[in-house]
Amino acid sequence: MRADVFTLFPQWFDWFREQRHVRNALARGHALDTVDYRDFTSLSGRSVDDTPFGGGAGMVLRVDVVDWALQGRYGVDPLELRERRRVVALTPSGRLLDDALAGELAAEDDLTLLCGRYEGFDERILEHFCTDQVSVGRYVLAGGELAAMVVLDAVMRKLPGALGDEESAVEESYSAALEGLPEYPHYTRPASYRGWDVPEVLLSGHHARVREWRREQSRERGAAAERRPLP
Ligand code: 6GU
Repeated sequence: MRADVFTLFPQWFDWFREQRHVRNALARGHALDTVDYRDFTSLSGRSVDDTPFGGGAGMVLRVDVVDWALQGRYGVDPLELRERRRVVALTPSGRLLDDALAGELAAEDDLTLLCGRYEGFDERILEHFCTDQVSVGRYVLAGGELAAMVVLDAVMRKLPGALGDEESAVEESYSAALEGLPEYPHYTRPASYRGWDVPEVLLSGHHARVREWRREQSRERGAAAERRPLP
């Protein structure tokens, strides 16, 4: 996968690139690049945003600036670009990120993520340049950068070789292998701590019983999650 993140804060992603599963993915030939909108603006003072028409608080990322940045990076009209690759805007009201969406994005060869700042994007960016809008939850962050890192974290750990143990991305919370249920509980040494004992079955060495217990725990957690009121 070759992922590009358009942002006003490219240096934020330096830290992200050093995370082990990201480093592993990059070492195996995947790419994560940042593009600074400011490098492509022709507005005075390298400006990228402006006040909203109709009034109101905050600043809005300009459609012309994003057009220039996409053209500059890819050398094609963004209208054409979105026919070729997914162009994802990070917006608080977008499609909620879940395991299925992370899997969808992980299957792409090329991915573009657009981060907005301040009050967000001029609507024409979303309408004409993007294929998707993705949110990481129903709350508002100051910008899309942390959301982009959340998306990339969930996506990149699904790339082959990103995790040390190939198994660990398959059978985990909310994955198809667990029928979309939450993951079962994990324990490690000590087997007893302050009187809190690890479930006997996990110490038994009976793999079939362990498997059955874990499936049962996943189902119970799934049922408990369904009883919780939705936001
Ligand atoms: Cl994708 N962006 C911003 N700014 N806030 C968010 C979000 C995205 N997802 C949840 N809150």
